[in-house]
Amino acid sequence: MDLRAAFLEGMSRAATFVAVATTDGEGGRFGVTVSSLTSVSADGDHPSLLLCIHHLSPVGAAILKNRYFCANLLAEPQQDVANLFAGRGGSGDHADRFTRAAWQPGEHGQPLLAGATATFECRLATALLWETHHIIVGRATSVRLSDNSSALLYGQRAYRKAIHLTTDT
Ligand SMILES: Cc1cc2nc3c(=O)[nH]c(=O)nc-3n(C[C@H](O)[C@H](O)[C@H](O)COP(=O)(O)O)c2cc1C
Repeated sequence: MDLRAAFLEGMSRAATFVAVATTDGEGGRFGVTVSSLTSVSADGDHPSLLLCIHHLSPVGAAILKNRYFCANLLAEPQQDVANLFAGRGGSGDHADRFTRAAWQPGEHGQPLLAGATATFECRLATALLWETHHIIVGRATSVRLSDNSSALLYGQRAYRKAIHLTTDT
C-alpha cells in the first residue's frame, strides 16, 4: 500500500462527527457536509473551532467572502441531511440543498439546520489554504443545543452511532 492509500485507510478508522458547514451573505448561500469539524479552544476571546473544506467546493470561497458561517453538528437521525449536503443523490446544486433541508437564519444570518444536535454560529477568525483544503478557524458567537444530544458519527466509511461501553471490574 502506498503512503497516500495507507493514510486514507488509517484515517478511515477514526470515527468523527458529521457536520454541515453553512454560510450566507454577499458571497452566496452554500453548505457542505464535513467530518473535519474540530473544537480548538473554549477559552480566549470567544470559543473557537476549525473545519477543513476542499478548495474546489464553493463553500470555502463563500465563507471567506461572507466572514460568517455556521457549523451544524448533525444528530443521529440526520444521515439524509449528511447525504444531501455531500451532494449524494443528485444534490449538487447548493440552492437545492437549502430547499430540501429545513433551516432558519441565526443572529448573523447564517443557516441553522433544523434537528442539528448543536449549531455553532461563527465569525471567521482566520483561514489558511493548505495544499488542497482551506483550514477555516471561527469564533463562536452563539451556540444552540437541541434536545437530542446524540451526534451522528462517520467511521470505517459508514455512518455510525456511539454506544456506551460498560466495564467489568
Ligand atoms: C461523512 C462525510 C464527511 C466529509 N467531510 C468533508 C470535509 O471535511 N471536507 C470537505 O471538503 N469535504 C468533505 N466531504 C465531502 C463533501 O461533502 C462533498 O465532496 C461535497 O458535497 C462536495 O460538494 P461541493 O463541492 O458542491 O461543496 C465529506 C463527505 C461526507 C459524506
